[in-house]
Amino acid sequence: MANKLGILLSGRGSNFLAIADNVAVGKIPAEIAVVISNKPYAPGIQAAEQRGLNAHVILGKGLARVEHDAAIVACLREHRVDLVCLAGYMRLLSPVFLEAFPQRVLNIHPSLLPAFPGLDAQKQALEYGSRITGCTVHFVDEHLDHGVIVTQRSVAVLPDDDEHSLSARILEQEHIAYSEAISMVLSGEYEVQGRRYLRKSR
Ligand code: GAR
Repeated sequence: MANKLGILLSGRGSNFLAIADNVAVGKIPAEIAVVISNKPYAPGIQAAEQRGLNAHVILGKGLARVEHDAAIVACLREHRVDLVCLAGYMRLLSPVFLEAFPQRVLNIHPSLLPAFPGLDAQKQALEYGSRITGCTVHFVDEHLDHGVIVTQRSVAVLPDDDEHSLSARILEQEHIAYSEAISMVLSGEYEVQGRRYLRKSR
């Protein structure tokens, strides 16, 4: 795999920035070929522009999901992307997308999956009374927050936590986990075995 990353985001973009910082210092052996947002004013896409990266807004409004995904796939292909990283991209991907990048789309989710998929995962963990939560980087498949797990990092839920404080501590771990996961995938040293992502046996 040549190491060209395509980042998809919808908002703040802190995971994107953590990845970009680790690319810049050589911790991730890759380049960011393109950053795409489905929201015109996402701070993340503005940060990508400021860093001089290829940054595109591809609006989903008024398009069927399949049409929107086809436009994004075309842009990723134009930039010869090998690995797609969803970084706070708040739209489900259609089969068109996944068929174009089989086992080459990663997502980050702010819980220890399979606990608390979907929206507001940190709030879900608090309301459930979990003592431990965290974050998961996983391959994207056709089901929500479901694909094979690449890596996870745990975070203790403290007695005085609210959604804000817990989300902030999980986010710190997300920034570490995403770069670790990308490096694992790009290393070519791991493979999917059933639902597990394991080091290849020599
Ligand atoms: C992150 O906490 C990420 O895990 C979450 O959105 C936030 C994006 O932050 N993603 C999901 O909940 C996906 N189901 P960022 O824009 O600062 O990277």
